[in-house]
Amino acid sequence: MTADKIGHNRYVNYTPESYEKQGIMTWLCRMPADRKLVPAISRIKGKHILDVGLGTGDYTRLLLDNNTVVGVDQNPHLCKLAVKVHKGDATELSKLVGGEKFDIVLSTWMTDYFNGEKLQQFFNEAKKVLKDGGMLMTTTIRPNGWGLIYLFLARYWRRVDKHGCAKNKVAAKLRQAGFTEIELINLNSWLGIPWACLVIAK
Ligand SMILES: C[S@@+](CC[C@H](N)C(=O)[O-])C[C@H]1O[C@@H](n2cnc3c(N)ncnc32)[C@H](O)[C@@H]1O
Repeated sequence: MTADKIGHNRYVNYTPESYEKQGIMTWLCRMPADRKLVPAISRIKGKHILDVGLGTGDYTRLLLDNNTVVGVDQNPHLCKLAVKVHKGDATELSKLVGGEKFDIVLSTWMTDYFNGEKLQQFFNEAKKVLKDGGMLMTTTIRPNGWGLIYLFLARYWRRVDKHGCAKNKVAAKLRQAGFTEIELINLNSWLGIPWACLVIAK
């Protein structure tokens, strides 16, 4: 694995325009998942939200009319929206945002860059920057079904270090971070084949 393909480093040379043209993976995975994800995000109103790894802000856009949004990303140059974006790592949220607290921490299609240890750190940090009763809304890749193929292609074809996490392990990590109400909703690829999970935790 070459270092330039690990995690967020792969986005350094993307522009907002080139990043948005993703092709086959978008069609196979994100489009079917969006049938649940987009309505879930669009329903959010009147909240102060931290969007972690917001990229070009495809989902952030859905929130801007009815909420206040702050971003965190290792590659803030990707976001051309009128949103304040802290440059930094998702595992250091509390340091990046100072004492600011949020109703919701949102993070779509980012946790697959994290191994188990980093995923735990991200959950811990999300909990720290949430107000009491605040909600984490994120996505994880399942290490079975299409998720397995997706991770295999990422690693051995695109040479990007990506990780899946089984639902029971995701739940255990959330509990360890202090979340008590946990909902894991399947985001399947076409034909109902398992791929990812929408994680909602309070
Ligand atoms: C696949 S994109 C997802 C963008 C957006 N959330 C979406 O769903 O369209 C992943 C984004 O997460 C960012 N990212 C990856 N690892 C990160 C990390 N450890 N800390 C902060 N941002 C990270 C990348 O720079 C990129 O913008």
